[in-house]
Amino acid sequence: MNISIIGSGYVGLVTGSCFAELGNRVICADNDSKKIEGLKKGIIPIYEPGLKELVMSNMKKKRLRFSSSVKEAVLESEVIFIAVGTPSLENGEADLTYIENVARNIAQNLNGYRLIVEKSTVPVETGKWVKQTIATYIKRKVKFDIASNPEFLREGQAISDFMHPDRIVIGVESKAARDILVNLYSPLKAPLVITDIKSAELIKHASNSFLATKISFINAISRICEKVGADVVEVAVGLGLDKRIGPSFLNAGLGYGGSCFPKDLDAFVTISEKLGYDFGLLKAARQINQEQKAFFLSKIRDALWILKDKNVGVLGLSFKPNTDDIRNAPAIEIIQALQIEGAKIKAYDPSSMDKAKAVLGKKVKFCKDAYEVCRDSDCLLLVTEWDEFKELDFLRVKKLLKRPLVIDGRNIYDHKRMEKLGFSYVGIGRRR
Ligand code: UDX
Repeated sequence: MNISIIGSGYVGLVTGSCFAELGNRVICADNDSKKIEGLKKGIIPIYEPGLKELVMSNMKKKRLRFSSSVKEAVLESEVIFIAVGTPSLENGEADLTYIENVARNIAQNLNGYRLIVEKSTVPVETGKWVKQTIATYIKRKVKFDIASNPEFLREGQAISDFMHPDRIVIGVESKAARDILVNLYSPLKAPLVITDIKSAELIKHASNSFLATKISFINAISRICEKVGADVVEVAVGLGLDKRIGPSFLNAGLGYGGSCFPKDLDAFVTISEKLGYDFGLLKAARQINQEQKAFFLSKIRDALWILKDKNVGVLGLSFKPNTDDIRNAPAIEIIQALQIEGAKIKAYDPSSMDKAKAVLGKKVKFCKDAYEVCRDSDCLLLVTEWDEFKELDFLRVKKLLKRPLVIDGRNIYDHKRMEKLGFSYVGIGRRR
């Protein structure tokens, strides 16, 4: 099929290159011509394992190309995916300006039947607005369909999530639209959920909100565990083995960050309010998530007493492992809070140091590895659970630290082993 993807950000690039890999001819468009020029030369603006290789090989096979012209994208494809950003406005609402712009632009260039698919995460009823906008601005009398096909890609494993999805959600209102999308996704042999557009839009917000709530739930349990001397890791195993609950997203710690969960929860709470429903459950999930960082800071204070002039080593800056993304990363907030109290910070992250430098500036000493972070630090904080931090040489770590204190915000270390090695070890919701 001839496909175009409008918006060559994270979702657009992954979706476009994966569709090309499946044998389609894809145009990825974006109004940022600098980005497009870079992409044409193989410069990928984001870090995602395997993406560069996929882009390069499909460009070579002439199945993938880049353009800064929406007109070209509209004229040369049967299916148009909208994958532009939907950032948060100050009140938490999703900013749909880019979606509206693209819809008008598509309308002005339509010269025959096209299927226009929302791929970006949008509030329920956006499809209805996109349809109305196109109908209002359309120049020629041609037919078109709208569909919703939300993405569920996780940063760091987006390509494998695309190629092996748990399900593909297709929201349509015509047989033509349904047939096109079913055909397009048939090589993936994944379960299809075919529904109306509004239900598809809701599935996306509901999924992310449910997962975020699951994380906040286990974080709340971790607080109770500490009060009574129980262990949240063991509680999570016991909970997760119930097939109705499942084991994933039950890691207690510093809570969720990133560009999706915080933004989507805000947007879902606001759209619910607009629709006349007070989504108290999600508000509580957000609050618990925020409290986890304060809770972690109180653990650091409990262990170090006075923070002024203490050297604090931080392992991990990205919001989760295998990404360089620091948006809503707990590490940034924690470091800034510690600096306000006068602590001196040394930090290391395998991939997000440049981005962190741009935000945190010169006041943080960025180190070449975890061991440099440990040297002369009064305590070591584990904030992001990169694999390389799981395999540290702790005898060396102990020698380097001024005092053998490890505060583990992701519960990746075995506390009995740490104590045997002579560390004071503090986790989240762990039995002492
Ligand atoms: C998420 C959704 O998973 C994906 O389907 C959607 O399309 C985009 O948003 P992503 O933001 O890449 O993906 O990260 P994810 O792997 O889902 O983790 C989200 C956050 O939750 C991270 O900050 C992670 O550290 C945290 N988390 C996850 C926990 O704190 N505990 C857990 O048990 C799982």
